[in-house]
Amino acid sequence: MAEEKHAALSIKNITKIYGKKKAADHVSFDINEGEIFGFLGPNGAGKTTVIKSILGFIFPDEGEVFINGYDTKKHYEKAMASVGGIVENPEMYLNLSARKNIEMYARLHGNISKERIDEVINEVGLSGRSKDPIKKYSLGMKQRIGLAQAMVHKPKLLILDEPTNGLDPTGIHQLRDVLKKYAHEQGGAVMVSSHILSEMQLLCDRVGIINNGKLIKVCTMEELEKMNSSSRYILKVSDAQKTKELLSGNEKVSEIEVKDNIINAGIDEENIASIVRLLVTGGVDISEVKKNESSLEEVFLQVTGGGINVG
Ligand SMILES: Nc1ncnc2c1ncn2[C@@H]1O[C@H](COP(=O)(O)OP(=O)(O)OP(=O)(O)O)[C@@H](O)[C@H]1O
Ligand SMILES: [Mg+2]
Repeated sequence: MAEEKHAALSIKNITKIYGKKKAADHVSFDINEGEIFGFLGPNGAGKTTVIKSILGFIFPDEGEVFINGYDTKKHYEKAMASVGGIVENPEMYLNLSARKNIEMYARLHGNISKERIDEVINEVGLSGRSKDPIKKYSLGMKQRIGLAQAMVHKPKLLILDEPTNGLDPTGIHQLRDVLKKYAHEQGGAVMVSSHILSEMQLLCDRVGIINNGKLIKVCTMEELEKMNSSSRYILKVSDAQKTKELLSGNEKVSEIEVKDNIINAGIDEENIASIVRLLVTGGVDISEVKKNESSLEEVFLQVTGGGINVG
């Protein structure tokens, strides 16, 4: 069985009902080796419920989970041997050091070398403090221990529920590097949940969007970006008045907003080069051109039908 090629994760029709609430409603998708899959959705969408069902922390009312080809209902131990994950607050011993906490976790997986433990401590950026008892640690540092615990046995499938919670910008950057290396260089499959699209954009190859318990879209990050047919761009210009004059009436430009020397305009990606050329030729210097991030947020809101649905 293990000789055949399987998706690292395959879930089919996962459904979990709490009272009258369908926290997960027939959710199905696959994740392959070597890819980072973002599980995106607003608060209460059902992300943690699906992740807990995959990791075996809760039993779904319906549906199947296959990890590395093993059905978790029939071959629980074999399935779980290929997965590492963190959900909400990982269990830790506060009086022990980061190293001890990681070692104890590693022991659950049998033979893990001291070198691997050093390596993982280093990868998550804890080497300076790994001997301190973790009760002295900040939230972000504890998050890093959780990540080290999840990765220590080099699972084929790594599942992290909102891993950027509590991390500072450096921590988020490091996390991104660690996960990209894990998937793209070492061939692992990574699933990361988040409600922050811009973070996912920098990290993920594919996304699954969940809202109200239902998976409403699975696509590559590029496809999601393309759905935004008319994008908005922000241009920092030397002369806003002149820019407005040069662009007014131009059919490639819509809805121009001006604030100081910042222009925010609707311009399709394929036209941005010619618009920049037009302005420069017309005597306007441009010191910055960037795509307006919020336009992707708008796509996300469109896809989720407005987004906020707490409870
Ligand atoms: N143990 C539980 N008992 C009752 N309802 C629950 C339970 N766990 C989750 N729910 C409900 O299921 C829905 C989905 O919750 P879930 O925690 O999966 O969302 P989430 O997408 O992880 O949200 P967040 O971004 O806030 O972490 C919510 O309506 C939540 O209130
Ligand atoms: Mg959650």
